[in-house]
Amino acid sequence: MNDIENKEDLLFLVDEFYKKLLSDPTISYIFTDVVKIKIEEHLPILVTFWSQAIFNTGGYFNNLTQIHLDISKKEFLTPELFQIWLDHFNTTVDELFKGENAEKIKTQALSISTIMQIKIAQSK
Ligand code: HEM
Repeated sequence: MNDIENKEDLLFLVDEFYKKLLSDPTISYIFTDVVKIKIEEHLPILVTFWSQAIFNTGGYFNNLTQIHLDISKKEFLTPELFQIWLDHFNTTVDELFKGENAEKIKTQALSISTIMQIKIAQSK
């Protein structure tokens, strides 16, 4: 099994990850009803974000925490939802990749998720 090496790998990862999110009714409604994402526009943004986080390629300028605070105002993003999100993310990474970057991306996802949840709790 290979490590995550480039943007093509990240696209494969986020594509498989979103297949899991969107086929799980305990979380999919956030992406289909609360916010109606356009998957073909959404996935390239995710690739830019994770490429900046893992490979320092830059190019991501949005306020990620604010975006999730705004979602949480419409529909509260509970700790349970964050756990479901993280479980699908970690499972997808482990199914597809093995190595330093695979570990790095899971650690970063956990850190960001923790920060988001603190900010969401503070904004209540
Ligand atoms: C309960 C957990 C989560 C849910 C339900 C969720 C849901 C969403 C939704 C609906 C969007 C689209 C927002 C929009 O286009 O207006 C989005 C965007 C995004 N999410 Fe999450 N998210 C969660 C956690 C996370 C975490 C932990 C991360 C990162 C580690 C993350 C990374 C992103 C990124 C990079 C975008 C793209 C933002 C942009 O358009 O610039 N999400 N999320």
